[in-house]
Amino acid sequence: MKKIAVFTSGGDSPGMNACVRAVVRTGIYHNLDVYSIMYGYDGMIKGNIKKMQSHSVSNILQRGGTILKSARSEEFRTKEGRQKAFEELKKHGIDGLVAIGGDGTFTGAKIFFEEYGIPTVGCPGTIDNDIFGTDYTIGFDTAVNTALEAIDKIRDTAAAHDRIFFVEVMGRDSGYIAIECGIGGGAELVMVPETTTTIHDVVKSLKGLRKSKTSSIVVVAEGDEEGGAADIMEKVKSEFKGEDKEFKVTTLGHIQRGGSPTAKDRILGSRSGMAAVEGLINGKSNCMAGIINDQVVYTSFEDCITKNKPLKDEYLRLQELLSI
Ligand code: F6P
Repeated sequence: MKKIAVFTSGGDSPGMNACVRAVVRTGIYHNLDVYSIMYGYDGMIKGNIKKMQSHSVSNILQRGGTILKSARSEEFRTKEGRQKAFEELKKHGIDGLVAIGGDGTFTGAKIFFEEYGIPTVGCPGTIDNDIFGTDYTIGFDTAVNTALEAIDKIRDTAAAHDRIFFVEVMGRDSGYIAIECGIGGGAELVMVPETTTTIHDVVKSLKGLRKSKTSSIVVVAEGDEEGGAADIMEKVKSEFKGEDKEFKVTTLGHIQRGGSPTAKDRILGSRSGMAAVEGLINGKSNCMAGIINDQVVYTSFEDCITKNKPLKDEYLRLQELLSI
């Protein structure tokens, strides 16, 4: 292996830059030529590829976003798109890839590897923490801390006015951000796609809390089966008719994706980036370099994509138990 390329794809996440930096510098340390591909698979198709030096990744460790930019590529889903991408990589003599992203990124990487055989190792970059094969994903810790800071502030104003707040956090198919925010922020209730909480359950809980609490926070994962926080709030509110209770909604949205990564995310990104490059050198491919029980573990893309990473029952229980 002589020339490797690194790219970020899908939703950006804080710590991706730390990962890019680690890939570039580990590659250079091992005498590889390291290239960057801008805008993920789209950039691969367009040949947006350039050689990196050690200084190309100076002063990025602490920055959110991704210096390599990111995209969700429709063209790469097509055979023609992937053929173009392969031609571009061949032109540059790329014989190894590091793909930083989530399950969509790894789905693309797996198909591409099966079609063209360029060794590829992934790094888990998504705020959602929904990737099997790693305890945490790069960006999750920062996203939780960003959301928690907001929830703490909402708590102040909720308490001042005796209001019930529905706070929507990210997580299209996953309640990881919601449950950790729920525990860390002392939410009265958490609604996640992994468990069924009906409107009736929410109403019952909130009415049950009336004796002990004057304000409440319900954290809603955006992918909850009852809908988004705004829909849920309207449905719940209609069950409180005639009561002097105010309901409010806050959707935290993309602020959770930005910001300077926490120490945890910088270290996870760095470890995973180094492990990806050293994995490639040692013959690993079609897999992701994750961290499980503080050890580097390589998990096949197939498992990363298809296996479920369930929320810990203990976390669900903890949140519920402490919210009374
Ligand atoms: O997958 C990461 C994520 O932030 C999800 O939590 C969210 O649903 C989605 O990306 C939003 O994507 P976009 O920025 O493309 O709207």
